[in-house]
Amino acid sequence: MSTPTYAQALTAISDRLCCDALAHSQDTADTAAVIARTYGLNEEHARIAGLLHDWARENGGEALLLEARSLGIPVSDVDQAVPYLLHAHVGAKGVQSHFPGIPEEIVGAIERHTVGGGQMSALDKAVYVADMIEPGRTFDGVVELRELLGVVTLDELFAGAYEMTMRHLVAGRKRIHPATVEAWNAIVAGGSR
Ligand SMILES: [Fe+2]
Ligand SMILES: [Fe+2]
Repeated sequence: MSTPTYAQALTAISDRLCCDALAHSQDTADTAAVIARTYGLNEEHARIAGLLHDWARENGGEALLLEARSLGIPVSDVDQAVPYLLHAHVGAKGVQSHFPGIPEEIVGAIERHTVGGGQMSALDKAVYVADMIEPGRTFDGVVELRELLGVVTLDELFAGAYEMTMRHLVAGRKRIHPATVEAWNAIVAGGSR
């Protein structure tokens, strides 16, 4: 297994994203590294996963649907209606083919950074939270969420972030992806809230 260096990953992602999206990737990388350090996770893996998490973020909806089908990625009714959600899964495959041998832990964190999943690792949770609380984020409640870092456990921090996501989806009357429901049920079953 080989993990790309930060410079290698930055060169690759800079060819795919620009401007705000690139700045968001770098901020997510830095924040993921801080979260990893705080909770004793692999900081290098967190940083690279954070940097590469939006690999397919600028692919269009039709392209994402086509790529997902050709890669054998399951496409739910929600993905069909909101193809943007597939950028995580398609991006994970893209990163894997661009960096053969990249650790599975990094690929999994990229795959689960948007809709989550029923079995999320500590690194998955760190990257999910980093994507939400990086310094460029300004939504209501983000300050309170940032303040939980290092004060509560990673599971509690993730549960707090996910609760905000769920509230946002419901308040906006948005569709909820089956994997998001699985993630929420796992949080509740784990008793982290
Ligand atoms: Fe994303
Ligand atoms: Fe992101």
